Order: sequence, then C-alpha cells, then structure tokens
Amino acid sequence: MDQENRKILCVGLVCLDIISVVDKYPEEDTDSRCVSQRWQRGGNASNSCTVLSLLGAQSAFMGSLCAGPVADFIMTDFSFRSIDVSAVSWQVKGQTPCACCVVCPSRGSRTVLLSDMNLPDVTADDFSKVDLSQFKWIHWEGRNAAEQIKMIQHVVKFNDALPRQQRISISVEIEKTREALYELFPHGDVVFVSKDVARHFGFQSAEAAVRGLYHRVKEGSVLICPWAEHGADALGPDGIVLHSDAFPPEALVDTLGAGDTFNAAVIFTLSKGGRLQDALTFGCRVAGRKCGFHGFDNISQYFTHE
Ligand code: ADP
Ligand code: FRU
Repeated sequence: MDQENRKILCVGLVCLDIISVVDKYPEEDTDSRCVSQRWQRGGNASNSCTVLSLLGAQSAFMGSLCAGPVADFIMTDFSFRSIDVSAVSWQVKGQTPCACCVVCPSRGSRTVLLSDMNLPDVTADDFSKVDLSQFKWIHWEGRNAAEQIKMIQHVVKFNDALPRQQRISISVEIEKTREALYELFPHGDVVFVSKDVARHFGFQSAEAAVRGLYHRVKEGSVLICPWAEHGADALGPDGIVLHSDAFPPEALVDTLGAGDTFNAAVIFTLSKGGRLQDALTFGCRVAGRKCGFHGFDNISQYFTHE
C-alpha cells in the first residue's frame, strides 16, 4: 500500500460515556439536576481515533465489544467518524464497558466512574490476524500489558523484513498506576507517560519525569509526559528535553479526553514526519483548544488540513 494512505491503528478501550455537565459538583446523597447530558463514545484509544479522524488522518480502532444496544451506539459513531472497525474483537461473554462522567466546567474537572468488569481484552492471537501492511503507526493504550507486548513483538518482527521508511511506528501509553503496565516502557518508539504515573514514581514535573524515567525506554525512543495546564515535555535520544506550554482556552469547559486528544495530535504530527517539538506544541494546542468546548467535534473546525 502507498505510504501516505496507510492508517493509524489505536488498540485499547472503547466504552460508552454518559456525560452529565454540572455547574456545581454534586454532594453525596443529594438529588439534583444537571445542566445537560449526552452519550458519547469514549475510551482512550477510541477517543484518539476520533481526534485523528477529525484532524484528517485515516484511523482504525482495535478493542473489544459485546453485541447489544451499547455496542450499536458505539458502532454507529465509529462509522459516522469513518473510523475503520474491521479489527474490532466481538466477544460473546461480558458487557461493553460504560462510564458515568461528571464534567464540571466551573472547576475544570472531569470525574469518571468506569465499569470495565468482564469483557475480555483483545489478545495477541486476535492481533495476529490483522493485516499489518495497511498501517503506518500503531498505538497501544496500556491495558493487558503482557498480551500487548506480544502484539508489539509481532510488529517488530514484521518490521524487520521492511526497509526503514516502510516500518510501522509503535507508540504506547502508560496512564494508570498499575505495576504490570510499566513493562511497556521499553516497547514503544514513542512512549506517553501520564502525570499520575510520573507522580507515582515521585516526579513533580513533566521535565523531572522524562529525565527520571528515560532509562526505562529502549534505545532511540522518545518519552513524552503531558502535565495538564503546564503543557508537556519530551525527551529523545539526543538528551535534550523539549517543552511546550499549554494553550489554555478562553474558558475551561470540558477536559474529558484531553490526554487522548494530546496523544492523537502528537501521533498525527510524528506520523507525517514532523519534528518532535512541533508534535509537542501541536499536541498542546489541539488538547488546549479541546478543553474549551464539549466533546471533540469542533476540532475539525480549528485544525483540519494544518
Ligand atoms: P488527561 O488528564 O486527560 O490524561 P492531561 O492532564 O495529561 O490529560 O493533559 C493532556 C494535555 O491537555 C496537556 O498536555 C495540555 O496540553 C492539555 N490540557 C489539559 N488540561 C488543560 C488545561 N486545564 N488548560 C490547558 N490545557 C490543558
Ligand atoms: C477519557 C476516557 C473516557 C473514559 C475514561 C476511561 O480519557 O477515555 O472516555 O470514560 O477515560 O478511563
């Protein structure tokens, strides 16, 4: 397949987000009304696909679903965004995950209560059936790390037979503070590590995190750490820490999925051969702008065909 037409695949969670927007975060055991409520397709990998598609990239999603009304809603939305779902793994047991999300613009907070109980994750065996030649980049949201490492090793093997410019780039996101996920550090060409994980390791800034965690990534890789209103930092093999300030919106409206937006915008830039500094700045610009409106739709208005 022609280089430019190859897609970006994101592997990870898709769920239903039931989002209530409130002007004041509710007290426990009270009965109040929200300002608005909506259903939205969610999950980190799924949100990143949405943003990639709005930026004008061809994206594909791989994750688990179980047939039913929730999956119907999700599939309709994937199709609306022209996101390729041929690699979705249909499970016969378990429930499609669902999250109750409370978005509170006056505090800039998003509180998520996710039910992700019993739907089996995509396995390395599922992944081995995917035709890799259609992708230029594959991103893994860290979940079932041991299986995901097998998937990555499969891609590394696939890459070995190809000239450098045709190889699939590999990125991973380590967002949750779960020991098993830290095994993913040495497996990405690009590794995104969250502020939560950075703090868990005792780092109080993005710069300290990329410096302090860099020894965990493999030689030649890039480590990136977004840090909400402080922007993001990155460190690559040249040892120079790069930084972008955040781009705060006029008013904070909806921070749900800001990190997924950042990851997508960084991957978008790097997958087109852009420089790391430009990717970092674009990531912060798109994510900052996203925090100024509900959902993701308006991204295309501001950023398509950049
Ligand atoms: P999440 O909590 O969704 O994982 P982060 O807090 O890591 O997201 O933020 C990701 C990126 O989103 C940051 O690097 C920044 O560019 C942008 N961002 C997040 N919150 C804000 C904010 N309050 N103001 C401006 N930009 C923000
Ligand atoms: C945002 C998000 C939501 C989802 C939650 C799962 O980053 O992906 O869409 O409900 O995180 O942790």
